Amino acid sequence: MNPPRFESERLIIQPMNITDAHNLYAYRSHPDVVRFQSMMFKNESEARQFIQNHQGFDFGIPETWYQLGIYLKPEQELIGDMGVHILNENFETVEIGYTIAPAHQRNGYAFEAVHKFLDFLFTDQYTNTVIGITDSHNHASIRLLARLKFQRTQPESLLFDFELLQDELVFTLSRTMQIFV
Ligand SMILES: CC(C)(COP(=O)(O)OP(=O)(O)OC[C@H]1O[C@@H](n2cnc3c(N)ncnc32)[C@H](O)[C@@H]1OP(=O)(O)O)[C@@H](O)C(=O)NCCC(=O)NCCS
Repeated sequence: MNPPRFESERLIIQPMNITDAHNLYAYRSHPDVVRFQSMMFKNESEARQFIQNHQGFDFGIPETWYQLGIYLKPEQELIGDMGVHILNENFETVEIGYTIAPAHQRNGYAFEAVHKFLDFLFTDQYTNTVIGITDSHNHASIRLLARLKFQRTQPESLLFDFELLQDELVFTLSRTMQIFV
């Protein structure tokens, strides 16, 4: 399946390009991001390699992560990325991740991008459950999930065995709840 491309009022969400490696490396190596994200790059060339590898991936393969870029209109500057981890066949349950470059945080971009992506999952892919896992100290991420109407969930109630780090919390949003966002 081809990777999706969406537009919201201020953003474009689409696969990343090799020319984005500079921005990707810059914000992904910022201490405020590294603190809460395990995926990081030692240098720009690793970021370029990551994007290049991704260009050969199919979208929607169970048990894989796919990373999309979040671009600010109209210049199409990469300001963040969003990952989707397909947990089983047909997008029934997916996990999401999201990052916005520190210089662009607190402008509502994460909400706008993730909201758009949830629409795609629930409406186009008939996803039942979206999972968000976050550190209990990550107030921005918890606030974002709350605003999107995710609910705190006990990991044992999920069918998937997540290897949670200490202090990680699990949130879920089901399709039936999403209509109220
Ligand atoms: C989490 C993150 C993606 C939020 O991005 P953002 O674009 O700043 O978020 P938004 O502007 O859309 O704000 C969403 C909500 O979070 C709140 N928020 C944003 N930053 C916050 C902060 N530092 N502290 C507390 N609340 C915060 C906003 O006020 C908003 O809530 P509200 O609408 O109720 O006021 C961003 O902080 C980030 O990339 N952090 C580093 C990477 C990371 O932690 N990713 C998630 C890993 S699980």
